[in-house]
Order: sequence, then C-alpha cells, then structure tokens
Amino acid sequence: MSSMPFYSPPVSLPRLHAHPDAQVLVRRARVGDVPRLYEIISYYAARGDMLPKTLDQLYNRVRSLNVAEADGEVVGCAALNITWADLAEVVSVAVHPDFQGRGLGKRLVLPLLDEAAELGIPTVFTLTLQPAFFSRLGFREMPKIHFPHKIWQDCKSCFKQDRCDEIALIREV
Ligand SMILES: CC(C)(COP(=O)(O)OP(=O)(O)OC[C@H]1O[C@@H](n2cnc3c(N)ncnc32)[C@H](O)[C@@H]1OP(=O)(O)O)[C@@H](O)C(=O)NCCC(=O)NCCS
Repeated sequence: MSSMPFYSPPVSLPRLHAHPDAQVLVRRARVGDVPRLYEIISYYAARGDMLPKTLDQLYNRVRSLNVAEADGEVVGCAALNITWADLAEVVSVAVHPDFQGRGLGKRLVLPLLDEAAELGIPTVFTLTLQPAFFSRLGFREMPKIHFPHKIWQDCKSCFKQDRCDEIALIREV
C-alpha cells in the first residue's frame, strides 16, 4: 500500500516582482490571495515569529482578512476574528520584508479596529511576539488570564499551550 506523500509548508520567502516603491493598496482578501498569504505566513512561522496557518484555515477565514497589494501582488495581511460578544482578536499580521517599515502593518491593522467598532465590539486584543509594534498602535499589555475565551477556544489546540511565549495586548476601539 502506498503511503500518503509528506507535505511540508513552504519556508522560503516568496520572491516579489512588485517594485519596493510601488503604491500599496489595502483591501479585503480574495480566495486567489490565499496561496501567497500561506507562503508569507509560513515563512514567518518557520522562523518562530508568528503562529502558522494551514491553507484550509486561511480559506475558512478569507472573509476576515485584509491584504496589502503592490503591483498586483499580495505583500501583507492582517485579520480580525470575533472571539466573544465584547471581544475580537487581531491575528496573522505579516508584511513582506521588502515592504516593512513604511506604515503597511499599521494600515492593515487600523481598519480592523474600525470594523470591530462597526460590529459593536468594544475591545480588541492580540497575542504577539512584536508587542512594540502593537504599542505604537495604542495597544497596552494585559495578562493572558484576562482572555479566558481565547484559552477555551484556541490555546487548548495550540502547539505552544502551557509554554506560550506570546504577549497579550489590548485596545479599546
Ligand atoms: C510586525 C510587522 C507586521 C510590522 O510591519 P511594518 O509594516 O514594518 O510596520 P509599520 O511600518 O506599519 O510600523 C508602524 C509603527 O510600529 C513601529 N514598529 C514596527 N515594527 C516594530 C518593531 N518590531 N518594534 C518596534 N516598533 C515597531 C514602527 O516604527 C511604526 O512606528 P511609528 O508609527 O511611530 O512610525 C512586520 O515587522 C512583520 O511582518 N513581522 C513579521 C511577522 C510578525 O512578527 N507579525 C507580528 C504579529 S503576529
């Protein structure tokens, strides 16, 4: 009996054709963006910078994702997941290294806060290894114990579980 082929996610950075000075548009994700998002997130996840996402997770959540597009190519993303009646989470924030440091992370995250407000959700949190980036966007650190819903929903199936090194930050919208 033949065994299933072992599938490894990509760990190399996608080579961009977009010019680094190209104008960048932030828009809602489409399903056609998912393979590139998977490459970017897998690259950072392999370095331990963020949690990995599977292709099916990205397709399932495509309606929660914003992407940054330059010269027709996806160069960054961020998503908002609703956690509870009064709480949502900013997840999967990533910007291709060629496009970092020019305000794209901020442009991807800030509309998610407006979206939370429009949904009637007063508070947004994130779990991250980049707390300084989120502090610049007005988030403040908060012990993880304040997010029991997150712990029930996701942490129980996360490979980090009890050895989670991510820092929780919170912001009113
Ligand atoms: C973290 C990340 C999304 C930032 O993206 P970016 O486009 O470079 O960020 P921006 O240019 O929008 O920065 C916004 C502000 O945060 C600051 N900032 C960005 N990254 C920072 C960092 N690592 N440490 C401290 N400050 C940071 C910027 O200086 C800027 O400050 P300003 O508004 O005073 O000028 C990007 O570095 C990245 O993709 N990292 C790898 C994936 C990752 O770690 N994701 C974290 C979430 S899980």
